[in-house]
Amino acid sequence: MKLLIKNGRVIDPHNSIDDYLDILVERGKIKGIAPQLDVENTTIIDASNKIVTPGLIDMHVHFRQPGRQEYKETIRTGSYAAAKGGFTTVVCQPNTDPPIDDFDSRIEYVLNIARNESIINLYTGACMTKGMKGLKIVDVKKVVDQGAVLITDDGFPVKEMDLIVEAAKEAKKCGIPMCPHCEETRLTRNGRSGIRKEAFVMEPYSSEAQYIQQYIIHGVKDTLCACHFPHVSLKQSIDRISQAKENGLAVTAEATPHHLVLTSQDYKHIGSNAKVNPPLRSLEDVDAIRQALKDNILDVIASDHAPHTVKDKERVNPPFGVIGLETTLGVILTHLVDAGVISLYSAIEKMTVNPAKILNIKGGELSIGKQADITIIDLDQEWIVDVEEFESLGRNCPFNKMNLKGKAIMTIVAGNIVMAYDKIFDPPAIDPHQWKPELWPQLKLPI
Ligand code: NCD
Ligand code: ZN
Repeated sequence: MKLLIKNGRVIDPHNSIDDYLDILVERGKIKGIAPQLDVENTTIIDASNKIVTPGLIDMHVHFRQPGRQEYKETIRTGSYAAAKGGFTTVVCQPNTDPPIDDFDSRIEYVLNIARNESIINLYTGACMTKGMKGLKIVDVKKVVDQGAVLITDDGFPVKEMDLIVEAAKEAKKCGIPMCPHCEETRLTRNGRSGIRKEAFVMEPYSSEAQYIQQYIIHGVKDTLCACHFPHVSLKQSIDRISQAKENGLAVTAEATPHHLVLTSQDYKHIGSNAKVNPPLRSLEDVDAIRQALKDNILDVIASDHAPHTVKDKERVNPPFGVIGLETTLGVILTHLVDAGVISLYSAIEKMTVNPAKILNIKGGELSIGKQADITIIDLDQEWIVDVEEFESLGRNCPFNKMNLKGKAIMTIVAGNIVMAYDKIFDPPAIDPHQWKPELWPQLKLPI
């Protein structure tokens, strides 16, 4: 099957393109990009009045597989949610139960499941410390050799300076960034079992900037390791990151849609589906995060998609986490692009080329010869978020019932249409890296 995507406005920040171009896809790869392509025997997708971008990348998601929390999300259901949201690539965080560390071949195991069950490209990070216990750094070379693209103890700050320095040195040697979780957490770890336990001392959730500064000084400056700060939420943190960037350090950072759009006031009416780590902040902080996104101090938009069940969220003490794969694009288009905070080009840059570069992973570009990962977006589509229609197993979305404008209408992975007009296409056990046209259903597109 050949695909010819015609008449779309192609925005590809990697190649500095914002123009009306046709794209020819053949055998899973991009074969041509030009103003007028006419090719015989192709499936034509009319993208008039649509935006055509490199497949979106979400570099911060929590799928709960493998392990004891697969009832919250599996690699398959997570990949459906990603495809529905326009994402062709995700990077999973390793805080599964048991966590994805250097024990055995856990990284390979995850990537193997993904090869069989994910309809999108999936990468994984590895824990920074063994068992995510904060005591001993993982064998970084081993996890990188197995395919890990970052190290993090997401959900838990690693506090000890000597551990931070050791991890940074190893990460630098192996060419991957560390992504430290820079916030106190109400849940602390049990040193022996690694199981989360409620802490007796409630810490104040305000140490993000101090943590970031410590990482910059000890983890980045002294070792020259690349450091990516996830879900930055406080104004003071922005100042630290900005300063480090001005000093030429290898620092990058990300913002989530919820920290860009919601404040702690919203928590009052949304309730536990807005309980997240780091927590929603003040309007002043939200404004600072928005400004930093505009000023490119924040390089990436990522969802921190963290599914929990309805039952979990109804508990007296519900877990932290919100889902976002199916709403990120709409929220960003509505509240940041349409609202004039950042340009469409910049939003796409932060969801394509920037995460690809930071993690040195494939994708994020529409270049001839590269794998055809493409997202088609309808900027004019108005829709209301309804968690009951989600592909994710999670329902803990703080944007439920929100009116949004702009949606992915087609997600193409390696030349395969994995989502069109909200419908997911999943032939069994398809490997998105291989071209298997015989497995693909004949598509009847409503165009
Ligand atoms: C994360 C999760 O659920 O895995 N939750 C979240 O609120 N971001 C982990 C964590 O950071 O606590
Ligand atoms: Zn996270």
